Amino acid sequence: MSASYPNIRMRRTRASRWSRDLHRETVMTPSDLIWPLFVTEGQGVEDPVKTLPGVSRWSIDGIVARAKEAVELGIPVVALFPNTPADKRSDDGAEAHDPDNLMCRAIRAIKQACGNDLGVLTDVALDPYTSHGQDGLVDDSDYVLNDETVAVLVDQATNQAEAGADIIAPSDMMDGRVHAIRMALEMGGHRNVQIMSYAAKYASAFYGPFRDAVGSGGLLKGDKKSYQMDPANGDEALREVELDIAEGADSVMVKPGLAYLDIIYRVKQRFGVPVFAYQVSGEYAMIEAAQSVGAGDRDALLMEKLIAFKRAGCSGVLTYHAPVAARLLNG
Ligand code: PBG
Repeated sequence: MSASYPNIRMRRTRASRWSRDLHRETVMTPSDLIWPLFVTEGQGVEDPVKTLPGVSRWSIDGIVARAKEAVELGIPVVALFPNTPADKRSDDGAEAHDPDNLMCRAIRAIKQACGNDLGVLTDVALDPYTSHGQDGLVDDSDYVLNDETVAVLVDQATNQAEAGADIIAPSDMMDGRVHAIRMALEMGGHRNVQIMSYAAKYASAFYGPFRDAVGSGGLLKGDKKSYQMDPANGDEALREVELDIAEGADSVMVKPGLAYLDIIYRVKQRFGVPVFAYQVSGEYAMIEAAQSVGAGDRDALLMEKLIAFKRAGCSGVLTYHAPVAARLLNG
C-alpha cells in the first residue's frame, strides 16, 4: 500500500447517480420560479418579441391561458408588464393610475380565473406609460425627479392593489418609495399585499429586449444612471437593501442576475431576508443565442444558471424561461 494514494476520495460520492442525488446540496423546484409576462391590447393576439425568441406579448385572453398554464406547472407567481398603446403614453405617465388600464384589466382577469392558486406580481415604475421612457417624472433637463415621482408611484401601486395584485414590485429605484407605498397600502386596507422591492437594480446593458417588449426602448433618451446603480458597486447594494427592508419590503430583488451573484450572496449572508434574482431579458436572449449557433444546450445552460441562483442564496428567480424550466423539473 503506497502512502501516495489519497485517503480522502472526493470522487467516491460522485461515482453513481443515486449517490449524487443523495449528496446534492441545493434543489430547484417549479415553486422557485416567477414567470414574467408581457400584456398587450386586443383579443386573440400573440405578438412575438423579436429579440426574445419564444416570448410573446399576449392579449388578456392569452395571458389568462398562460396563468392557468403556470398553475398546472406548479409556478406560484406571474409578473405582469404592459405594452401600453402609444396614444396612452404621456409625459406624466398618468395611464399608470387609471383603474381600467391594461394592467388592471389583466390582474382582474387572472384573479378571476385562478383565484388564490396563483400570485400576481406587478411592476411599479412609469416607463411603460411615459412618452420619454424614463421610470419617473422628468424636469426640463430630463432629470428624473424623486419625490414627485414617488407620489405618482404610490397612486400606481394603490391602483394595482385595488385591482387585486398580490405582490407590488417597485422597480423604479427612487429613494423612499417602499415606505411611501407601504403606508398607502396599510391605509388602503391592503395589509397582506406584499412588497418585493427591486432593491439592488443596476443600470445594465442586459435590459434591451425588455424595452423592446414593452415598447419603451425607442422612446428612451439617454440612460437611467441617475437612479439605477453603477455595476461597479457592491457595498452600495447592501445599503439599498438595508433601507428597503427598514421601509417595509417583505423581500428584495437583485437585478440582473448572473453578473451579480456576489451581491445576492452578500445580501443573503448579511440580512437573511428572502432574496430573488431577476434573470433579465438579455440573459434569456444570450441563452437562446448560444443554442441557436450551436454553442451550448439551452436546457443545460438554463438549469445550471438557475441552480447557481439558488446556491448563492435566492428563494426564487424571475425568468422568462420559467415554463421551460418547470417542464424540465417536472420531468
Ligand atoms: C422597468 C423595468 C425594466 C425591467 C424590469 N422592469 C427595464 C428598465 O429598468 O429599463 C427589465 C427586465 C428585463 O430586462 O427583463 N423599470
